Amino acid sequence: MKSPPPVEPAPDQTTPSPGEQVKVWDLPVRLFHWLLVGLLALSWYTGETGGLDEMTWHMWSGSAVLALVLFRIGWGVVGSTTARFGHFVHGPSEAARDAASLLRRRPPAHVGHPPLGGWMVVLMLACLLVQAGTGLFANDDIFTEGPLTGWVSKETSDWLTTIHKWNFELLLVLAGVHLAAVMYYVLVLRTNLVKAMFTGRKQLPAGEPQTPLRFVHPAVAVALAAAAAGGVWLLVA
Ligand code: HEM
Ligand code: HEM
Repeated sequence: MKSPPPVEPAPDQTTPSPGEQVKVWDLPVRLFHWLLVGLLALSWYTGETGGLDEMTWHMWSGSAVLALVLFRIGWGVVGSTTARFGHFVHGPSEAARDAASLLRRRPPAHVGHPPLGGWMVVLMLACLLVQAGTGLFANDDIFTEGPLTGWVSKETSDWLTTIHKWNFELLLVLAGVHLAAVMYYVLVLRTNLVKAMFTGRKQLPAGEPQTPLRFVHPAVAVALAAAAAGGVWLLVA
């Protein structure tokens, strides 16, 4: 039987060779992710412990999370190809197809986030924004007030504190689903996404033409991060 003719790449496409590791995640995305994980752990520990010193640390780590998320939203608009919302946010039908292929254990390789994962990223960023945003107006009825608590009435601050507490439970659920999905990829589908979040490189199917990714200069990320951190600093300091 004749084998099918090889797919001819379009002039602007490249074709990975067998075993080739292709760069998919830029440094800003990887730094964002692992800083976020560390700062969330610190915010969780200090928020639950709740002593005076711990709450001071809590408000700083929570504010740093806010700056990180604002940076990531900006990078999702002006950043490298795989960081952009336009690259990984797809319609419901693609997400449903992705879910079906995951259940059949035959997901196609994705250069960036898969469609279902893309929606998870959006949900997590929104939930983080609510968490850090409500924290700014929260109070613990004893000795801690968020930096903007004075801007609102006591009732509003109490209401935002309740959201801060319940939204944290939602954040834990989302983080749990996220980790379970990543583990499903690693253990069941034998695709090590975690390594890719450290090294930035993924193995893509050999011989399948790919449109080259565009990586934005890190100086743009530094400027964006400085703007996000500066804006949050002006609010909380
Ligand atoms: C040690 C625990 C964690 C591991 C191993 C991990 C692993 C990963 C991996 C492999 C990806 C890329 C997924 C893909 O290829 O599509 C990713 C993305 C992401 N993870 Fe995690 N994750 C962890 C904890 C968390 C936590 C606690 C959060 C916050 C709720 C989080 C939020 C995100 C976000 C927002 C992205 C999207 C990254 C971006 O596009 O900027 N992760 N994670
Ligand atoms: C995304 C980052 C954040 C996380 C994960 C987080 C998590 C938490 C947790 C788990 C608690 C304990 C809730 C409880 O007692 O059940 C808490 C309380 C609190 N957080 Fe945050 N927080 C974050 C950001 C912030 C920010 C940015 C601020 C203010 C700058 C803030 C201010 C407070 C205050 C004032 C409390 C005390 C509320 C109380 O105990 O009644 N948080 N936070």
